[in-house]
Amino acid sequence: MNLPPKAETDETICQCFQVNESTIRAAIAKDNLTEIDQVTESCEAGGGCHSCHILLQLFIDEHQEKITSMENLVQDHAKKVKKRGILSRFFEKIKSPTS
Ligand code: FES
Repeated sequence: MNLPPKAETDETICQCFQVNESTIRAAIAKDNLTEIDQVTESCEAGGGCHSCHILLQLFIDEHQEKITSMENLVQDHAKKVKKRGILSRFFEKIKSPTS
């Protein structure tokens, strides 16, 4: 069974409210949102467990063409992450395996 191509590029970012990446990016672009709270007001993303806030901030920063250090994002938002899900790939990028 093949998934439609869009499914791979438009993942669910906010698991609490089942909001996908394109919806979040569209909300940010439409009203030039600059705060996570504004994104939550616009499309509900981020209004639950806050695990997705790190990605909401990343999308906001990208829209504003800010260069965001992933290390800083992780530092600022890691404590909020309760549902790793899609976030695993970000943490795997940052943390190199140590043994
Ligand atoms: S995953 Fe977005 S608020 Fe919980």
